[in-house]
Amino acid sequence: MITIALAKGRLADHALDLLEKIGIDCKQLRGKSRKLIFTTNNDSIRFIMVKPSDVPAYVEYGTADIGIAGKDTLLEEARPLYEMLDLKFGACRLAVAGFANRKASGITNTQTRVATKYPNITRNYFASKGENVEIIKLNGSVELGPLTGLSDVIVDIVESGRTLVENGLVVLEEICPISARLVVNQVSLKTKHNEIKRIINGLKDLLEGE
Ligand code: PRP
Repeated sequence: MITIALAKGRLADHALDLLEKIGIDCKQLRGKSRKLIFTTNNDSIRFIMVKPSDVPAYVEYGTADIGIAGKDTLLEEARPLYEMLDLKFGACRLAVAGFANRKASGITNTQTRVATKYPNITRNYFASKGENVEIIKLNGSVELGPLTGLSDVIVDIVESGRTLVENGLVVLEEICPISARLVVNQVSLKTKHNEIKRIINGLKDLLEGE
């Protein structure tokens, strides 16, 4: 039995599209059901629906053999997993954003305050530039940081850019591109090698053909 942890939310539909194209029946998962564990037409595959930021934990501990999550989540969690495939969907970028006249860095007198859902990525990014910032961890709508004066800038994902534009903010610095990735538990890759490889190779062929 292979268990796949799927991030609920914006990535789920794209992931299900791909998995259906390689012959896994995902119909049950598309409804409005509140169920959290689903079996498929293939008795050897089941899904667990988890919060995006929890995918790496389920895969690290082997509760799920495979996980599908955004690179942002993987970087933030930094858990020991094998990242096997860039699934290409969910493309966006991680960026420092704020008011156009506000430099993201180099503020001398007071320490820059950064609001973010990604405290680890933020700490590592500014540390790599030799900057010591104060990080305020928020759980959503981080654009409110500069708007309300809670923070100077934010670190967040930018997809269409609409949220920034509609709130009068701009990208100040690009951190890195993001997309959905397939990750595998390190032990499962050895003990369930054939089943996992079949799924990965199916997805790889599909992506290369597109
Ligand atoms: C994400 C992100 C930005 C927005 C970017 O938030 O945190 O706020 O989407 O998308 P855009 O560039 O297409 O506008 P999400 O919708 O996940 O909600 P949240 O702020 O509550 O986390």
